[in-house]
Amino acid sequence: MTREAVVKIRDLIAGYGRHQVLQQLDLTVWRGEALGIAGKNGAGKTTLFKVILGLIAPLAGFVSVQGRMLDTPRVRRLVRCQIGYVPQLHTPGKMPVSVHDVVLMGRWSKGFGFFKRPTMQDRQKVSEILREIGMSHKEWQEVHLLSGGEQQKVSIGRALVREAPILLLDEPSTYLDHGSQVEIIELIKTVRLKHHLTLIMISHDPEHLEGMSDRILLLKNGRLEER
Ligand SMILES: Nc1ncnc2c1ncn2[C@@H]1O[C@H](COP(=O)(O)OP(=O)(O)OP(=O)(O)O)[C@@H](O)[C@H]1O
Ligand SMILES: [Mg+2]
Repeated sequence: MTREAVVKIRDLIAGYGRHQVLQQLDLTVWRGEALGIAGKNGAGKTTLFKVILGLIAPLAGFVSVQGRMLDTPRVRRLVRCQIGYVPQLHTPGKMPVSVHDVVLMGRWSKGFGFFKRPTMQDRQKVSEILREIGMSHKEWQEVHLLSGGEQQKVSIGRALVREAPILLLDEPSTYLDHGSQVEIIELIKTVRLKHHLTLIMISHDPEHLEGMSDRILLLKNGRLEER
């Protein structure tokens, strides 16, 4: 069986202004695998995600996602539709937004956008995903009233509703208590198989990645190393 590279990065240099965070970084992610990337706080893990998502342009090097080189803003936008993203956990504001509407936002630029309102199908997809992640009973509750573990499930739901083949998870279990960590890890394993996803997960603590990853790399001095 031939392996297909879903993400391919060569000699990447990326950062902010003159601060180069990633230095000559190489990475290949294969279709269907679950890759963990560990690295200390500030190592550049989230920055690497921003490059894959096309949110920051590399200073040098080659990046391709699903066989497309991310060399123009247009391609970077297209590729973002192919990726579900679970950002590093942050507390939601006090805005009275329902779980349903937060998950619906995951369909932005996939099902709807500036010129197209969400359809019945978009909303049905949201309800279907909420059933799958065991959050139907909270569909119309305000999201800021949920526990940390429930909020993380909603965040995963918002990524899944994009129906994208690649899922990036930034510290998915880090800020949760032990029970919720176990639940989130099980959920990630289940949705991975059900949706045939390629996963890239990052954490400052390799232990958090162990239960969910097929292999784990270490981000250090701007590059990825085998552990
Ligand atoms: N928007 C930004 N502007 C300037 N510098 C930034 C910006 N975002 C991150 N940095 C810097 O880039 C470096 C890497 O940050 P990054 O967030 O990628 O690290 P990380 O590995 O995800 O860390 P953590 O484990 O704390 O989440 C840090 O030195 C950080 O201060
Ligand atoms: Mg980070």
